[in-house]
Order: sequence, then C-alpha cells, then structure tokens
Amino acid sequence: MNRLDGKVALVTGAGRRNGLGEAICIRLAEAGARIVVTDIGQPEGHLSSGNIGSAGEMAAVADGIRSAGGEAVVAPMDVRDETQVIGAIERAVSAYGQLDILVNNAGIGFLMKPLVEMTADQWRTVLDVNLTGAFLCTKHAAARMIRQGHGGRIINIASQAAKSGHRHMAAYTASKHGMVGLTRSSAMEFGPHGITVNAVCPNHVTTSLGAVQNEYFARLNGQTVEEYLVAMRARIPLQRVGLPADTAGAVAFLCSDEAAYITGEAMNVSGGVEMH
Ligand SMILES: NC(=O)c1ccc[n+]([C@@H]2O[C@H](COP(=O)([O-])OP(=O)(O)OC[C@H]3O[C@@H](n4cnc5c(N)ncnc54)[C@H](O)[C@@H]3O)[C@@H](O)[C@H]2O)c1
Repeated sequence: MNRLDGKVALVTGAGRRNGLGEAICIRLAEAGARIVVTDIGQPEGHLSSGNIGSAGEMAAVADGIRSAGGEAVVAPMDVRDETQVIGAIERAVSAYGQLDILVNNAGIGFLMKPLVEMTADQWRTVLDVNLTGAFLCTKHAAARMIRQGHGGRIINIASQAAKSGHRHMAAYTASKHGMVGLTRSSAMEFGPHGITVNAVCPNHVTTSLGAVQNEYFARLNGQTVEEYLVAMRARIPLQRVGLPADTAGAVAFLCSDEAAYITGEAMNVSGGVEMH
C-alpha cells in the first residue's frame, strides 16, 4: 500500500455512513493519514434533511476510524459558508499542525427534474454545494498548503456526470463538469507550489445519494429499482456498479507519491462505462 504516514487529510461531506466520504476517510487512515471528518453536521431545511448527514453520523465515522487504530477529529462545516470552511481548516491545523490533503467530496444529487421545471433556486442550491463549496474549500486549503511550503494534494470527487450529459440532472451535471474546470485551472495555478489537483469521476454507487437516483430513474422508466439496476449493470463493461472502495482506492493513489507527476486529470472510476 502507498503510505501517507504523517499526512493530514480533510474530507468534506464525509459524515454519512456508507457514503464515498466515509470510505475515503477509512482508506486514507489505513494508509497512515490523520483525518479531519467534515460534514454539514445537522439537518438543514432547504437542503432536504433526509439527504444530508447528521452530527451523530459524522461522529460515528470518526469513531470507526479511531477504533480501527487510526486518528480522526470531526469538524462540522457547511461547504457553502466561507467562515465555516476557514474554521474547519483551522481545526485541522490546531489538531494536527498542518494540512496536506483536501478531498472535495460534499455533494447533493437529489434534485432531479426536467430542466424546464427546475427553479433558479434549485439550480443555485446544487451549484452552491457541489461547485462553489469545492471552490471555497480549495481556496482556503491551497492557501494553507502554499504557506506551509511542502506541496499538497487536492482531489475533487466529480462524477460520470462530469463527462457526459444526463437527463433531469442539468444542474448536477453542470456542477460536475464545472468541477473538472476547477480541477484543471487550480492544477495550473498550484503546480509551481508542488500541489497536485485531480478529479475522480465515479459512475453509479448505491450510497444514500445513489439510492435516491435509482428510485427516481426507475420510476421514470416504469421499472422496479432492481430492473433498473440490472439494465445498468449490463451497460457497464465490468458488469457491476461502483463501490465506495473503488473511489477510495483511486483517491488514495492520487494522494500518494506514486501519483506525484499527475495533475489536472479527471480519472474515470466507472468500470469502463465512461472512457473519455
Ligand atoms: N453515489 C454515486 O453514484 C456518485 C457517483 C459519482 C459521484 N458522486 C459524488 O460523490 C460525492 C459523495 O456522494 P455520496 O454518493 O457518498 O452521497 P452521500 O449523500 O452519502 O454523501 C454526500 C455528503 O455531502 C454532504 N453534504 C451535503 N450538503 C453539504 C454541505 N452544504 N456542506 C457539507 N456537506 C454537505 C451530505 O451531508 C453527505 O454526507 C458527491 O459529491 C457525489 O456527487 C456520487
């Protein structure tokens, strides 16, 4: 395993059991990194409280890392709130003295509807969390890494929706395409500081976010969720949907010394269903 001993990693949107963020935290902790688990932390009305992690779940993710022998602290943070973003980075530095890795994982994908029915408010909500949130975290984490002067890693969890269009998901798809633009531009700016910036683009993973999408599209197609998933698996060259561990493994690789010369990439982790 590529080791990350001594590194400090802050992962956003990681306070959800069985989410990609939890798997990323566990994988980086197994490699020796000290983890700052962040999430919005409490229900918030207009984001739909059923689709965001609670403070209890976030604490459980950190407890799981510690009981497996790793190091973790919790820092509640809404990625849309710049003051909270600064506060979470300060928490990382006060707990562990530095910040080496940022994983922009927080995202919402539950606002699915035909584009002509989407309100400007719903559009902005998705863009605010998925894209502006990643910008704010990148801005403050990179500033810290530049001050530290020993490089760093920024990984953006984009999506298959960063590469291809998806019906009824215009805002989500635009936000994820935007994340690739953010990845490439920040890779240009931060390269001279030894900071690499890459995106990981998973296909479908049945997390809480993924399950909501399954239900919506199965209903749209007049299928059961199982019928929908059977058809999806048939389209994937490796014949299965993604697992949180698939994304976590790619993140760990991009954080490692093995990936030191890779930056500005948007890596598909999609079982071959997305190839460009
Ligand atoms: N599951 C999939 O099929 C899939 C595929 C490709 C990409 N992704 C991306 O992976 C990332 C993780 O998604 P997941 O599938 O694990 O879903 P998830 O719902 O389990 O995790 C998303 C997390 O983001 C958090 N979050 C939402 N709004 C936030 C805010 N304003 N501030 C801070 N945190 C906030 C939620 O509380 C939740 O813990 C997302 O960016 C998603 O778009 C998921």
